[in-house]
Amino acid sequence: MTITDERAALKRLYADFEAAHLTPLWTQREGLMTQVPRPDAVPALWRWSVLHPLAERSGELVPVGRGGERRAIALANPGLPGTAYATPTLWAAIQYLGPGEEAPAHRHTQTAFRFVVDGEGVWTNVEGDPVAMRRGDLLLTPGMHFHEHHNTTDRPMAWIDGLDIPLVRQLDAGFFEFGPDQLATRATPAVSRNERLWGHPGLRPVGAPATPSSPLMAYRWEHTDAALTAQLELEDEGHPGVVEPGHAVVRFTDPATARDALSTIRTEMHRLRPGARTATIRVVGSAVWQVFDGSGTVSVGDERYEVTKGDLFAVPSWAPLTIATDSGLDAFRFSDDPVYDAIGLSRTHREEPSA
Ligand SMILES: [Fe+2]
Repeated sequence: MTITDERAALKRLYADFEAAHLTPLWTQREGLMTQVPRPDAVPALWRWSVLHPLAERSGELVPVGRGGERRAIALANPGLPGTAYATPTLWAAIQYLGPGEEAPAHRHTQTAFRFVVDGEGVWTNVEGDPVAMRRGDLLLTPGMHFHEHHNTTDRPMAWIDGLDIPLVRQLDAGFFEFGPDQLATRATPAVSRNERLWGHPGLRPVGAPATPSSPLMAYRWEHTDAALTAQLELEDEGHPGVVEPGHAVVRFTDPATARDALSTIRTEMHRLRPGARTATIRVVGSAVWQVFDGSGTVSVGDERYEVTKGDLFAVPSWAPLTIATDSGLDAFRFSDDPVYDAIGLSRTHREEPSA
């Protein structure tokens, strides 16, 4: 075969591949099997000072109710155009509920949590159990739990919703059902039934049935704050507990199993004491952080952000992350780590801080 004949035959081969819906690996390998993760998602920052006023304006103009279901505004990563995803696996949104407003019941296979950076006055009824939402609290809505929100006060409230919507979409595992149009309850107890049963440290209710996800729906700020304070006090006294100098972390866990509170989303609260700086870490999998209190400097990949209360930022897979603070910083982190743990893809690389 002459070179000309070979070229013509190869051209016909590729044309026949295409007609048969086939693609040869040898033209694709570098994009499919990279030496290290090369995410499409990019480091991104959303400032609370921008988000909250936009949510307020939505509150004036956009009703909440059946159909749209929630007045939630999603953080859309600029590296994932055409989606409303903060990362390839995580959805993050600010939700806003005005005075007296109600968001009707529904349930879905997507797993959700709420984190409250400020305010109070809304209750989330989870399977008819009213759970108060207050500053610093983490509230869970595991998959297929009916949930509805009601604001019984004369003040609006905003909070952050985190879900695994992009992961469930990629896995084609989404199911959604409407609940009754009428709220299950408008009761506003200070303490929910699930907290009365499960919210006592180290004490498992023997008569409570096993559940596939955490039976505790609320993790209260007073407990989180006390645990972080104790870690830093123990460090001062020369005892172990912190993850690195000046950096305390707690992970929210299922009280029945000690595993992550949610099956697909890891949730943690971090506290850096004034003057602390984290090691630079790369993690396989993505995360979203929200500054809860204080301020600091965050380096994600090539980006550097000065962050303060309420600001959110996305950390793509394998992007180096460093956080430093002069005045002290509390930050909530959620990630897809449990998914990577479950399928054996977790990997972390840690660089010690330079002197
Ligand atoms: Fe929902």
